Amino acid sequence: MDNDRRFFVCTNQKSGVGEAVAKSLKKELKVQGLKKLLSGGDRQRVRVQTCNCLDLCKQCKKGPGAALIVYPEGTVYGNVRPADAEELVAEHLGRGHVVKRLRID
Ligand code: FES
Repeated sequence: MDNDRRFFVCTNQKSGVGEAVAKSLKKELKVQGLKKLLSGGDRQRVRVQTCNCLDLCKQCKKGPGAALIVYPEGTVYGNVRPADAEELVAEHLGRGHVVKRLRID
């Protein structure tokens, strides 16, 4: 895989919340100017990709939000709602801090 960072967002819920989360993440990357990052001297693009079940269904299909994984670090978030996108982008990408209240260990 290339050097890009990726949010893989599950869209396997009937509610469609995963699609809404993905859309909100894309919007926040643009608003916060973080579609392209400089990390360790390397330029990285940040992509939001939808996918099928991540096998985290307790924090996704059965909850109010969607599960997602941030690549390449492998941080897993659950029950993410569209309103969480601003914080995820600002904290996880902008400041390099895991959003503990959404993290799944
Ligand atoms: S339905 Fe989303 S992780 Fe399984």
